[in-house]
Amino acid sequence: MCGIIGYLGGREATPILMESLKRLEYRGYDSAGVAVLELPKNGAATRTSVTKSEAKVDTLIEKLNANMPTGKLGIGHTRWATHGKPTYINAHPHTDCHGKIFVVHNGIIENFAELKAELKAEGHEFPSETDTEVVPHLIEKYYKGDFLAAVRAALNRIQGAYALAMFSSDDPELLVGARLNAPLVVGLGDDEYYVASDITAIIPYTKRVLVLGEGEVAAVTPLGAEVSTLDGVTVKPKIVHVDWDVTQAQKGGFAHFMLKEIHETDEAIANAMRGRLTDDGLVAFREFEASEEELKKLQEVVLLGMGTSLHAAMIGEHVLEDWVGIPARAMDASEFRYRRPTFGEHTLSVVITQSGETADTLVALHQARERGALTVAVTNVIASSAARDSDGAIYLHAGPEIGVASTKTFNSHLISLYLLAMRLAQANGRISLERRRELVEALRALPDQVRTLLGRDKEILALAHKYSQYRNFMYAGRGLGYPVALEGALKLKEISYVHAEGTSGGELKHGPIALLDEQFPVVAICTASSTKEKMVSNVHEIVARQAPVLALVSEGDSSLNGVATDIFEMPAVEEASSAILNTVMLQLFAYHVATKLGQDVDQPRNLAKSVTVE
Ligand code: F6R
Repeated sequence: MCGIIGYLGGREATPILMESLKRLEYRGYDSAGVAVLELPKNGAATRTSVTKSEAKVDTLIEKLNANMPTGKLGIGHTRWATHGKPTYINAHPHTDCHGKIFVVHNGIIENFAELKAELKAEGHEFPSETDTEVVPHLIEKYYKGDFLAAVRAALNRIQGAYALAMFSSDDPELLVGARLNAPLVVGLGDDEYYVASDITAIIPYTKRVLVLGEGEVAAVTPLGAEVSTLDGVTVKPKIVHVDWDVTQAQKGGFAHFMLKEIHETDEAIANAMRGRLTDDGLVAFREFEASEEELKKLQEVVLLGMGTSLHAAMIGEHVLEDWVGIPARAMDASEFRYRRPTFGEHTLSVVITQSGETADTLVALHQARERGALTVAVTNVIASSAARDSDGAIYLHAGPEIGVASTKTFNSHLISLYLLAMRLAQANGRISLERRRELVEALRALPDQVRTLLGRDKEILALAHKYSQYRNFMYAGRGLGYPVALEGALKLKEISYVHAEGTSGGELKHGPIALLDEQFPVVAICTASSTKEKMVSNVHEIVARQAPVLALVSEGDSSLNGVATDIFEMPAVEEASSAILNTVMLQLFAYHVATKLGQDVDQPRNLAKSVTVE
């Protein structure tokens, strides 16, 4: 995820920007840059010095140390590429045609293509491929001598998500910050001010922080920070005192990246939907533009992935068959290459890979292409090998995932697959408008439902501590709950090293049940679905073997009261939504068991974040 820092005060800006960018590194990024407004010497005109690196912050720091810009106002950025590759040109800050207005941006500007076309027609030039670059040009368009008024006019045209830090060389004592759907804070020091995407960046300088609200603009001058709405109405600033220390703040206040990333699920899934879904359930992917004709011809979908991504593929398989009525197969990508797959040019091959670099998945992708299948990569990494080598890409926009165990991106994969299913159903006319609207409503409610569930972390921790005494676990589910059970078991075993296996409820009686006794608990996914009653019967069978049962049930369902050992009530929602919410619950459960057992959850033994060998 990108990082922002801005400084205005009495000290030299460059060293502060350099230090703060180092502190933002943990977020994950690929390139970095700063712009510093240099004070005029001997009556010369003000000049802004821009320094960028298409690599790490250390390279940027080397460049700055070799040629240190002097000035008391500056902005800096770490970029995690979304629109355009991580190149020098695409790195922020970006500027207008006259090199007066400088902008750094986090988020995604959804309507950038139409704004860019409009501005181009008016003569503006765009060297980069980024969505961000429309911002300085729009401000330039509206600038009539009042920078703040031009910023407001520009932001009123922008849709999507942004946290922005900006200045103009015409206003050497004004630093402007603005936000919508992306966080931004203003640090209040002694006669100096900071604008940052993340408190981490400024925590050594000040603990007084003004938290900007949605759609608010902060105008920072040597006299202080004034907050207003996009319409210019003054807002009383919300100031908080932060009591974090620097070490904590590096993980955004969370003990581990894994926990932080689970807590980012709401934002990640909102990003996966952003700009892709209309109220009527029509879906469009900017980087996967197969024609209606091409999609109508499809006779089969093959979903390929490994580990957690394979579990996402299994959910995709189920949903594609259900919503689109098209044969779908989820396959272990490493097995695929050694089989003789019977598909060809009427097959859509969907490769699911967070990193976009998993060797097994890439080999399978290449084989699918050789056989003439239409290919699309569902991935979190822009310009990754999977994205490059496929006909199209569906980017997760989940922000970097640093914890080795995949968490938020699993759920972003699910959202992307749900949208893909809706896109295919749109092409073959399979889902009614009414059903599409229901699905849109269910999907849009998810970020809030996830937030509410995350707020119940203490309940999950208590359950995890109770169950952390066991050395073996079984996870069982049916329908979408089956891959969720597999994923719950994988999460637990990989970070806690406790043996856990997943099974379908139906398969349980065909072998796994032999393992069960009072020392072998079962996590049973019994939330509302067409197979819920069957799961309830399974729980009775499990309990008859004296195995403890932790059951996930839908709110208000009392059918397992007095039967299961522990019951955790989940919201009563669409089955597709349940798959996401149940997974978040199981991720937190695994996290708390592992931390109780003292394991290194962010870097579990023997595992790598990206498996680039077969
Ligand atoms: C488990 C996990 C792995 C990955 C697998 C595929 O938590 O992270 O199982 O899911 O290595 O990785 P990607 O999605 O990058 O292809």
